[in-house]
Amino acid sequence: MAHRLTVIGTGYLGATHAACMADLGFEVLGVDVDEERIARLAAGELPFYEPGLEPMLRKGVESRRLRFTSSYPEAAEFGDVHFLCVGTPQKAGEYAADLSAVDGAIGTLAPLLRRPCLVVGKSTVPVGTAERLAETLARTAPTGGDAVLVWNPEFLREGFAVHDTLRPDRIVAGLPPDQGAADHAEKALREIYRTMIAAGTPFITCDYPTAELVKVAANAFLATKISFINAMAEVCEAARADVTKLSQALAHDDRIGGRFLGPGLGFGGGCLPKDIRAFMARAGELGADQALTFLREVDEINIRRRIRMVDLARQLLGGSFAGRTVGVLGAAFKPDSDDVRDSPALDVAASIRAQGAKVTVYDPKAMPNARRAQPSLEYGESALTAAENAHVVLLLTEWPEFRDMDPSALAEVVAERNIVDGRNTLDPERWRAAGWNYRALGRP
Ligand code: UDX
Repeated sequence: MAHRLTVIGTGYLGATHAACMADLGFEVLGVDVDEERIARLAAGELPFYEPGLEPMLRKGVESRRLRFTSSYPEAAEFGDVHFLCVGTPQKAGEYAADLSAVDGAIGTLAPLLRRPCLVVGKSTVPVGTAERLAETLARTAPTGGDAVLVWNPEFLREGFAVHDTLRPDRIVAGLPPDQGAADHAEKALREIYRTMIAAGTPFITCDYPTAELVKVAANAFLATKISFINAMAEVCEAARADVTKLSQALAHDDRIGGRFLGPGLGFGGGCLPKDIRAFMARAGELGADQALTFLREVDEINIRRRIRMVDLARQLLGGSFAGRTVGVLGAAFKPDSDDVRDSPALDVAASIRAQGAKVTVYDPKAMPNARRAQPSLEYGESALTAAENAHVVLLLTEWPEFRDMDPSALAEVVAERNIVDGRNTLDPERWRAAGWNYRALGRP
C-alpha cells in the first residue's frame, strides 16, 4: 500500500492533516508556496494556535516522517496520494468563493504527475468544482487516467482540529463516475483511513457533487441553528423572556439537541460566514437560488447580533460613546483559537472605536492577529488591564479565564460596574451580588 502522502496547502486544515497523518505512521510531505511558513513548519513551529497540534508537528518533524517543501516537482515525485488542502476564501466584494488557490495547485501539480496516484480534495469548494478538476487532471497529467480524483471534505473545528481529524464523525468519499477508478480510489482511501474505520467511523461513498454538498450543507445547518436561537433571543428581548432558559428547555428534545444552540454574539471565523455566502452564490449560478434565500436571513440575523451588542453598550453609557472607555474581553472568533477572521468580537470593538470610545482589548491567544487586523484599537496585557477605567466591560469571546473571573477584582479597576455578557457565559447572580449592572443578549 502507498504510504507516501503529500498535503498541498499548509494552512489550518493542511498543517493539521499533515501532522495527524504523520502521527498515524505515514510519510508525509507538506507543500506550500509560502516559503516562510514552510521554514517555520519544518522547524516544528506552528504558525497559529491550536491545542495539541504543535507537539504532534514536532514529533513528526523529529521522526523525519513529516517534511515540508515549496517544490511541486518534489511533491509530484514523492506522493502516492496528494491531499489538496488549500484555502477557498470569500472573493472581495462578492459572495462567491475565490478558487484561485485550488486552480493554481491543481494547475501546477497535474502536469508533473508522471505515475499513478490519487488526488484527494479536502478544501471546501462550490459544488461542481471536483468534476472540473477531474477533467483538468485527465487532460493535463502525463499519467492521464491514472491520476484519480476523490472528493473527501473535511469537517474539523478550530480548537478541536486534532480530535476531529483523528476521530471524525464520518468520512465522506466522492468517487469518480468510472467504476474501475472509483473502486481503486475507494480501496486506497479506506486503507489510508483504516484506523478510523476500524474504530467505527462511518465511511460514506457518493458522487463528487454530493460529497461537495455534504460539507456546505453541514455548515449551512450549523449556521442556521445558531441564527435560529439568536432570532429567538431577539424575540426574548422584546418579550422580556430569557433565551438561555428557552435554549436549555429546547435542548431536552433530542430531535432538536442542545449543541450549536448557544445564544450570543453569533458565528464568525474563516468558515461558516464565507461558506454560507459561497453556497448562496453557487445555488444562484445553478438556478436554485430560491432554495437558499433563508441563508440570507441566517446571515442577517447573525450580523444584527453585533449591531445589537453595540447598541446595548451605547445605551448603558447614556446614548453616546464619545469620550468613554470600553474594555473588551476577547478578540478571537471563539475560544481555544487565535483566529480573528470575521470575528464578531473584533468587529464590535472596531465599531465602538469608530463611534468615539477608547477601546482596550485583551485576548489570551489572539493578540498578535488582532493587532494586525485592527491596529487602531488599544490592547491590554490582561483582562484587568483591558478593563482599567472602563465605563462598560464587554465579554465577547467565552474563554474559560473570563468565565472564571472574580467580579470583585474586576470591580476594583473599572470606572463603572457595567458588564455585557455577549456569550451568555457568566453567572448573573454572582456578578450582580458583586455590585455589577449585568446585561446579556436575549435576557431581561
Ligand atoms: C466550523 C464547523 O463547525 C466545522 O465543522 C467546519 O469544518 C468549519 O467551520 P469552526 O469555524 O472552527 O468550525 O468553529 P465552530 O466551532 O463551528 O464555531 C463557529 C462560530 O459559531 C463561532 O464564532 C462560535 O462562537 C459560534 N457559535 C457556536 C455560537 O455562536 N453558538 C453556538 O452554539 C456554537
